[in-house]
Amino acid sequence: MNARRCDDLRLTGSGGANRVMEAELKRLVMRSAFDVRVPNPKREGDETLLYPFDARVAWVAACYHRTSSRISWDLCSSAAVRLEPLFEDLVPVLSSDDRLPGGPELRFSVEVGAASDFEASPLQLRGVVKNAIVEALASRGVTADIDSEAPDVVFIVRRAGTPEARRTVVGIDLGGSSRHRRGARVATGLAPLRETLAAQLIMLSRWDARTEPLVDPMTGSATIPIEAAGLAVGAAIRHPSELPWRRLAAFEGLPGETPDLFPGTAAKIVALDADGECIKAMVGNLRAAGLTGAAFDQSIVIGQQDVRRLTPERIEALLPEVRDMRPGVFCINPPYGVRIGGERGEHELLDLYDDMGRALARFSGWRAACFVANPKFVYAFGHHPTMTKPASNANLRGHFLTFQF
Ligand SMILES: C[S@@+](CC[C@H](N)C(=O)[O-])C[C@H]1O[C@@H](n2cnc3c(N)ncnc32)[C@H](O)[C@@H]1O
Repeated sequence: MNARRCDDLRLTGSGGANRVMEAELKRLVMRSAFDVRVPNPKREGDETLLYPFDARVAWVAACYHRTSSRISWDLCSSAAVRLEPLFEDLVPVLSSDDRLPGGPELRFSVEVGAASDFEASPLQLRGVVKNAIVEALASRGVTADIDSEAPDVVFIVRRAGTPEARRTVVGIDLGGSSRHRRGARVATGLAPLRETLAAQLIMLSRWDARTEPLVDPMTGSATIPIEAAGLAVGAAIRHPSELPWRRLAAFEGLPGETPDLFPGTAAKIVALDADGECIKAMVGNLRAAGLTGAAFDQSIVIGQQDVRRLTPERIEALLPEVRDMRPGVFCINPPYGVRIGGERGEHELLDLYDDMGRALARFSGWRAACFVANPKFVYAFGHHPTMTKPASNANLRGHFLTFQF
């Protein structure tokens, strides 16, 4: 038999996300109610971390982790790249797997992850995994049927591993499908940043939410400020009741509530944009995320402002409660030309980067983290990055850059 039982917690992110994902998980578990140490993970490429499975760590990751795109529990893997051998491999290993839910009935769905080197279509792969699960569960006295609308358990199959040792891995989705879908955004600007990427950008800025203001001078639909507010207090992004766990014995007895992990952090977040239409989208999205009202009056400030005329005095005026403002951080996702620049024209865009660079030079001691998809940005911006890291937003390739002013 080619199949192997596995028992790993798998965190997958966008390319290059490994270090940030690892740092975030450590920080969250340390602040959780569990007395558990997170072991060093194994890495697959630069976008996947594998931890020995521990339901408490998995619970924290699934409820709170913001920088990963998918979280799953690997149950078994097979070297098979064709349908029939895969079925033959999966049935016995799943039949003897007591981590699967008991009977009498189970509704489940199967999602297919990256599988371009499997020698059949994703639909066929999904079908054969479904059949193997039905047969394996039947041998354990469980009548299982597909229910994509309200599954008790979501299985996920993907090709994974290192280039020299690729396998077809079957696991259970723990994180509530694609995690950049936070459920809060009601209006999107022209070029919204993925929430998982916004969280990475903020982590890379090394923002200390207790002492430093965070300014997004090109806020668009407010993805970065919403993520910043969540990261500051350690707010959950998923509630256990919405995760397909109720039938998994491993999660029995784990908490049903998700309190903030860093409660009481009084963050100072400034959300600015030159475009008045964006202000409306920002307000709508902040409201949908529960970040408006008296409790947030002093902590999330919105303003219509051209970044080219931004000064430290203007930021101080927007944050009247802050005395002797310390240098803070900018988290920026500037327009990059592919989607916005058509109208703007390249010259205008490069002039904007140049003017931004001059404006931010007024902020001595501040840091900036940017996600930029225009290769001419650094040259026009006029500051030397302290870090450059490839990244992509959906299909758009770009870079994370950090700066010190
Ligand atoms: C790529 S979008 C930001 C998207 C945002 N991160 C989100 O997730 O929705 C760039 C933003 O820069 C804003 N912008 C363009 N020129 C500006 C300027 N001179 N000053 C301030 N904001 C500007 C645009 O209105 C747009 O909302």
